[in-house]
Amino acid sequence: MKVAVLPGDGIGGEVTREAVRVLEALDLPRVTLFEGDVGGIAYKRHGHPLPEETLVMAREADAVLFGAVGDPDCDDLDRALRPEQAILGLRRELGLFANLRPARVFEGLEHLSPLKPEIARGIDLLIVRELTGDVYFGEKGTRTTDRGEPEGWDMMSYSAPEVQRIARLAFTAAAGRRLTSVDKANVLETSQVWRDTVIAASADYPVAALDHMYVDNAAMQLIADPSRFDVILTGNLFGDILSDLASAAVGSIGLLPSASLGERTTPHGTFGLYEPIHGSAPDIAGQGRANPMATILSAAMMLRHSFGREDDAARIETAVARALSDGVLGGDLGGEHGTQAIGEAVRERL
Ligand code: NAD
Ligand code: IPM
Ligand code: MN
Repeated sequence: MKVAVLPGDGIGGEVTREAVRVLEALDLPRVTLFEGDVGGIAYKRHGHPLPEETLVMAREADAVLFGAVGDPDCDDLDRALRPEQAILGLRRELGLFANLRPARVFEGLEHLSPLKPEIARGIDLLIVRELTGDVYFGEKGTRTTDRGEPEGWDMMSYSAPEVQRIARLAFTAAAGRRLTSVDKANVLETSQVWRDTVIAASADYPVAALDHMYVDNAAMQLIADPSRFDVILTGNLFGDILSDLASAAVGSIGLLPSASLGERTTPHGTFGLYEPIHGSAPDIAGQGRANPMATILSAAMMLRHSFGREDDAARIETAVARALSDGVLGGDLGGEHGTQAIGEAVRERL
């Protein structure tokens, strides 16, 4: 099992360290960890946010465990050199078109949600976010209007094959549960192709319960009635926004893991990149206050999807749920526990 660990910037190093320690505590056979630079730190050391050697390391691994990238010092660089290009470049270069973001309120932990307990109870949804298309990867630029004013533009598009492959994956992941496809087909042509293609793909999944929702309504329903959702299928931009929203409904962005998958397989599963959905959190970086649970849960997803180790994945998830119900809470959840203390508490409960 070859794992490329890419901690990145800000709290990325703090949270990946705890996740690696959890993997080590499981005493897995034949794990080799490699560490590489990405993001602002890679730019500062190598002149590029995604150095060639890091990309090679990721390609040669069976899975990538990723922290976060983003550094306010780098926000004025040319876009191609900004830290965020590291994660966008990895997703594109590794063909990771499917991003799974589960959001679940563990039983008895409704009090962690800012929603009323009766609304928070039963949140158990999976956001399937398309990850290599949409306005993220379209042409973009700046130009000057006729009146001499600066104007920015970004091209949004989805082709039918791009939608079809993520829709198929989402129908399979839904496995009979309700699939809600989220778009903005009342305004965007991109979304009309999205919706038509999802409907066409549904013909191959006869028992699938499928509905369609506009993204503005979906944002509202995620707060008003989140347990109505099982699997949400959506594009890159809407998925980015709705997943942060879903994390807040669960209690904190420090709890939500993700898996980014493509077509490449490993001996025991699918090659993937695993990362928390949050960023580098510059406001708390270096203070030992970040919640590492999202990254620890991402490591669990890695064991499940890339290494076929469902039992170990479940052990980690149960340990995290137990720590939470024992009151091991980071500052993001109103508690006092620091990054290391949370990591230790999870390891004790494995
Ligand atoms: P963010 O997710 O980094 O932080 C948002 C808020 O949530 C902050 O108040 C932060 O302190 C808090 N937070 C995030 N993770 C936490 C954790 N594990 N424990 C406790 N609190 C946590 O989003 P942002 O502030 O909008 O972005 C900061 C930087 O991160 C930017 O440069 C952005 O581009 C980048 N970013 C990177 C990724 C990624 O690497 N995949 C994801 C999102 C944002
Ligand atoms: C995420 C992040 C990234 C995204 C950024 C850092 C490029 O917000 O992983 O959710 O927008 O996909
Ligand atoms: Mn995001």
